[in-house]
Amino acid sequence: MGSSETQVGIVGAGPAGLLLSHLLHQNGIHSIVLEVRSRAYCEERVRAGVLEYTSVELLRGAGVAERLDREGLLHGGIELGLDGERHRIPFAELTGKCVTVYGQQEVVRDLIRRRLADNGDLRFECGDVSLQQIDSGRPWIRVERDGQVDEVRCDFIAGCDGFHGISRASCPPGAFEIFDRVYPFAWLGILAEAAPSRDELLYMHHERGFALYSMRSPQITRLYLQCAPEENIDKWSDDRIWSELHTRLACSDGWKPTEGRILQKGITGMRSFVVEPLQYGRLFLAGDAAHIVPPTGAKGMNLAFADVHHLAKALHAFYRKADETRLREYSNTCLQRIWNAQRFSWWMTSLLHRFEQESPFDRRRQLAELRYLMSSRAAATDLAENYVGLPLEACIG
Ligand code: FAD
Ligand code: PHB
Repeated sequence: MGSSETQVGIVGAGPAGLLLSHLLHQNGIHSIVLEVRSRAYCEERVRAGVLEYTSVELLRGAGVAERLDREGLLHGGIELGLDGERHRIPFAELTGKCVTVYGQQEVVRDLIRRRLADNGDLRFECGDVSLQQIDSGRPWIRVERDGQVDEVRCDFIAGCDGFHGISRASCPPGAFEIFDRVYPFAWLGILAEAAPSRDELLYMHHERGFALYSMRSPQITRLYLQCAPEENIDKWSDDRIWSELHTRLACSDGWKPTEGRILQKGITGMRSFVVEPLQYGRLFLAGDAAHIVPPTGAKGMNLAFADVHHLAKALHAFYRKADETRLREYSNTCLQRIWNAQRFSWWMTSLLHRFEQESPFDRRRQLAELRYLMSSRAAATDLAENYVGLPLEACIG
């Protein structure tokens, strides 16, 4: 059995765990990141694609935005579609801010490269990770790696291991209050080798279900279709996917998405989920380990970054001044932003999807809301300021 010592043991090398490790390093705090998957798997996993203005500022401030600034696509707005008509929400004009389209796996790649260049301790392909004595003053993490058992002893554990990780589940029943909502639909997402034929994202309301036109680079398009939660991906041939995308995204001016080879396809369920508080003993949860939003508001990765920004600041205050105030306040500080993002993501989802069980009254109400959003500057500003991201330090509670 091997043994290692660190100040902060981080479970998970997703956006949350990697950025936390980097921010801690910048403040002279040592961490070890333990990840079950391989480095290649983490770097290739296609997920989120939109970075809030706030996240870009955070990554820039942390000195890890060099490639993001070079290759990220700056978007000054999005389009909403209804009955084949598009309506632009001009973020830059309404808020003075833009979002950046840059794949999550690119952020992950940049962070891994930077941590390794700084001699960071990242351990991939760990088996059977378990948390021990998290309610004591000296917790530890048990890991199996290369056929060996290792004990990682630390002052704190950061649970950054996503929704299906073990951190949250390692706490006793009753440690958290759970808030959960599962939606009656999922997204079928594809990545296509096709040059985007629009400059901005198009969120389309359609009677057959929601569709989203997005992109990753000047060569790659990302598209989504609302589908049933139990949908079988094998029943969706490439031809069927393109045909459905053409139907739902059809615009009265004749615009249609450019087709290309489908590089990847998958189905993602939709849920809203929060645990409170984000702490149990010496374990602090961050990112998807603590909360999930439906992807319609493009908030998932951004929320993960906001959490670790606050956690890094709290740990810095602890180690520099023995001040535990920020650690004690960590959960409440994050929850303000989390609940606002929950509200926004639920609202975007409710506005744009087809709900099979909805009454005719609710359908009319949904359309009225969408039309109002397309005609009112005040309503559009509400969407814009939430989409580009509220300031990190002053979130609406
Ligand atoms: P994760 O990215 O999930 O990282 C957690 C890490 O922990 C992973 O690397 C995992 O392998 C590792 N891990 C898990 N268990 C253990 C363990 N026991 N021990 C050690 N390591 C462990 N958001 C959007 O905005 N748009 C999207 O299109 C979108 N698509 C998504 C598709 C899927 C399938 C999923 C699951 C999420 C999607 N999201 C999307 C959400 C967004 O990607 C997440 O919010 C973001 O990844 C959160 O980052 P994280 O670091 O908290 O968690
Ligand atoms: C994406 O490009 O993957 C994407 C964009 C916007 C969303 C969700 C996903 O709201």
